[in-house]
Amino acid sequence: MSSILLVTSSPRGSESLSNAIATELAEKFAASAGAKLVRRDLVETQLDHVDGTFTAAIRKPADDRTAEESQAVALSDKLVEELMAADTIVIGTGLINFNIYSSLKSWIDHVARAGLTFTYTENGPVGLAKGKKAYLVLAAGGIYSSGPGAPMNHAEPYLKTVLGFLGIELVETVYVEGVAYGPEAAEKAVAAAHAKVAELALAA
Ligand SMILES: Cc1cc2nc3c(=O)[nH]c(=O)nc-3n(C[C@H](O)[C@H](O)[C@H](O)COP(=O)(O)O)c2cc1C
Repeated sequence: MSSILLVTSSPRGSESLSNAIATELAEKFAASAGAKLVRRDLVETQLDHVDGTFTAAIRKPADDRTAEESQAVALSDKLVEELMAADTIVIGTGLINFNIYSSLKSWIDHVARAGLTFTYTENGPVGLAKGKKAYLVLAAGGIYSSGPGAPMNHAEPYLKTVLGFLGIELVETVYVEGVAYGPEAAEKAVAAAHAKVAELALAA
């Protein structure tokens, strides 16, 4: 059975646009493919910032780790397992100070692991999370998909770079943007996102 991993990061619960649209997309994919849906809510799962114990632990084989180091990477190991087991990954985030929610940044810090999700070779780094497709759902007060705001969009280029580094080259983005420009603009943005979700679900 194929597997879909849904990663949500907004702390705004039912008010969150990225949570809502990313969940809708992942549920549609799961329903049409009869796939297993694994949900990783990064507000429910609070990840520690990378610290000295973590960085020491990921640089040595599991058998050489202290008990404290083993504990520091246990959740990271689980998150890597979830990522590697998925065929499709749906990631939701708001555009936060021109980038992503810090909870999602922490998830990336926990899944980008040398030897597990990427490896260094003579020819440079190679991603090990190959053959997967990722969908990004980005909610933003302003407009960043095109126009004058695009150069300030560090969320989509960053996520595409890091996913590509891990070997995930196929990435599609759904924007829910311009939601701060009044209720009418917000309604239009949500309707456009629903339409995009329906289109992607049909194409999948
Ligand atoms: C701390 C903070 C920083 C934000 N920074 C930006 C920003 O840089 N650009 C923008 O257009 N909107 C910004 N917003 C608005 C969010 O992108 C918008 O509310 C979006 O809907 C958040 O995603 P969510 O609904 O999934 O939580 C910010 C909101 C917060 C709370």
